[in-house]
Amino acid sequence: GKGIYPHYMLKEIHEQPGVVRNLLAGLLEKTDGHLKINLPERVSRKLHKARRILIIACGTSFHAGLFGKYLLESIGLVSVSVEVASEFRYRHPVVDPERDLAILITQSGETADTLSCLRLLKELGVPQIVLTNVEGSTAVREADDAMFLLAGPELGVASTKAFLAQIVYMMFFALELGLKKPHPEHSNAHIYSILDEFFRIPALMEETLNLSPSIRDLVKPFTHLPSTLFLGRGRDYPLALEGALKLKEISYIHAEGYPSGELKHGPLALVSDSMPVFALVSGSELLPKILGNLKEVHSRSGIIISIAPASLKGALTDVVNHQILLPPVGDFFLPLLSTIVLQFISYHMADLKGFDVDRPRNLAKSVTVE
Ligand code: M6R
Repeated sequence: GKGIYPHYMLKEIHEQPGVVRNLLAGLLEKTDGHLKINLPERVSRKLHKARRILIIACGTSFHAGLFGKYLLESIGLVSVSVEVASEFRYRHPVVDPERDLAILITQSGETADTLSCLRLLKELGVPQIVLTNVEGSTAVREADDAMFLLAGPELGVASTKAFLAQIVYMMFFALELGLKKPHPEHSNAHIYSILDEFFRIPALMEETLNLSPSIRDLVKPFTHLPSTLFLGRGRDYPLALEGALKLKEISYIHAEGYPSGELKHGPLALVSDSMPVFALVSGSELLPKILGNLKEVHSRSGIIISIAPASLKGALTDVVNHQILLPPVGDFFLPLLSTIVLQFISYHMADLKGFDVDRPRNLAKSVTVE
């Protein structure tokens, strides 16, 4: 049941630190102070052999794939293309069974378009790995290899904990590749220090969960507005897309996710004092660019709500209207905290509007027809 929570979605958001603990127990081994990533032999062999990774998925799982691309390319040094399943299956894709690896991401393991891509890839002889939450699912039965999200049943139509588990997998796949492909910015020592920090993340996620009431208060005045924008750059861009999808899905407020650098190429025209702009900000080398983008929104009377680590508070004071501050955490892990904030934004906006958060209109939990 829902326990103390009014909705499954809220319960599932709160389960996320536990999901990460489960995943770490399976994926990361620490013996005598030595860390080891534990992937099944066949899976790691496939990852290391791949010259190109094709990630195929729908909806939220597609956003996790897009997030994966940033890490797999920058740390794993492998070329990645990410595609929505309903597009991939009908466009006569060019693949190379010797060089390509397909990763199909599907919470349910039953999404019709993703399953069709799986069958197509099998026919074409491309090796596959399915990343799913459901052990007895069709995707697991049909794929060469499957890895499990270990998130427990996800009942809210809006995917939350499965997404978080998917991005944790993307992190592990990238780090596993990175260990064998030394890179000036990602030496093995650096990768091991990231792996070590992983054990601290569930507690920081718990701290982030405490932001729920203040996020509810903050978004209250925006619930009557018709449209919102979610901005992010780099790895935060796929998270912005996911934040926007979540809001559309359950609050029926129009929302768009945009890479901040694209603002000038169109969406800046939409900015006004009646459109809240949720901006993901991280302290990477992109910070000056992000601040520049936000200043453009600010000077056009946009209402900006930043989601950033507490260390950036000063840098953001004159640029944004409201700040949601995250516990201090290494840049690599910030997405695991900012995702929780995005989930709360949509949950509270939808709940304040009185909608049935777990069963949004027109949608089904798994899309088993085309
Ligand atoms: O089960 P899947 O991961 O294959 O489902 C894909 C999408 O249908 C799903 O993520 C959908 O977008 C969610 N309702 C989003 O919250």
